[in-house]
Amino acid sequence: MRVAFVGKGGAGKSAIAGTFARLLARRDGPVLAVDSDPMPGLAFSVGVPVTDAPIPDEAVQERAEGEEGPRFRLREGLTAAEAVQRYAAAGPDGVRFLQFGKLRGSSGGLLRSQFAFRQILSSLPEEGWNVVGDLPGGTRQAFFGWGGYARTILVVVEPTAKSLLSARRLARLATVDPPPDAVVAVANKVREPGDVELVARRTGLEVVASVPWDEALADAERQGRAPIDAAPDSASVAAVASLLDRLGKVS
Ligand SMILES: Nc1ncnc2c1ncn2[C@@H]1O[C@H](COP(=O)(O)OP(=O)(O)O)[C@@H](O)[C@H]1O
Ligand SMILES: [Mg+2]
Repeated sequence: MRVAFVGKGGAGKSAIAGTFARLLARRDGPVLAVDSDPMPGLAFSVGVPVTDAPIPDEAVQERAEGEEGPRFRLREGLTAAEAVQRYAAAGPDGVRFLQFGKLRGSSGGLLRSQFAFRQILSSLPEEGWNVVGDLPGGTRQAFFGWGGYARTILVVVEPTAKSLLSARRLARLATVDPPPDAVVAVANKVREPGDVELVARRTGLEVVASVPWDEALADAERQGRAPIDAAPDSASVAAVASLLDRLGKVS
């Protein structure tokens, strides 16, 4: 399964993506969780004990003079799967975690890391690897640059005016090449019976999950713990499990 969560900042992408990655790993084997948001988020919600898992410079080589292709690529002989085994941080339940977008460090290093990250996402064999992405929802650039691996785009939407508006824009942006199989919505922080209907109507997207407003999630956040560890029996974790059931039947 290859999915990416997008949405306005604060909508709940990281909380949901991290929980989803853990549940998927328990059910279906190796998961690569990829955070392309420069603000740390996914590491906490997966429960990986690092917030920074970049690809080191020595894993990358520069294109030789006269050679075709991108400026940087993974070192000769280093496959995407090996790069993940070697450099992705190991999290609970066998989730591996890669972060791209840390804004510090030399720009040269960041550029190398960017190319490697992209190459890993485009060439990691579908067989044996699930991918769960947490994408910053803000810009067209980010979406086109990093969303290509996802077969299903999940737009996380709060039933607030701002979130609904950005979700509607994101729904229109989801025309990556190759196009995803599905662009659907996840309603989050749902408090009232009419919220899901509102999200469906205002975004024009099918709502595949409804995650309730859950104080347990806010508590997990305060503790800096993964929701699935801090509140395994919470209503929000159960809602993410239903989302996984639903997608598992679709794909
Ligand atoms: N269903 C929910 N109920 C209560 N709080 C939530 C819920 N989903 C997310 N949150 C809280 O909202 C904030 C933003 O969530 P986060 O996952 O970091 O959003 P994003 O990654 O989209 O910016 C966090 O404090 C998180 O704990
Ligand atoms: Mg986030």
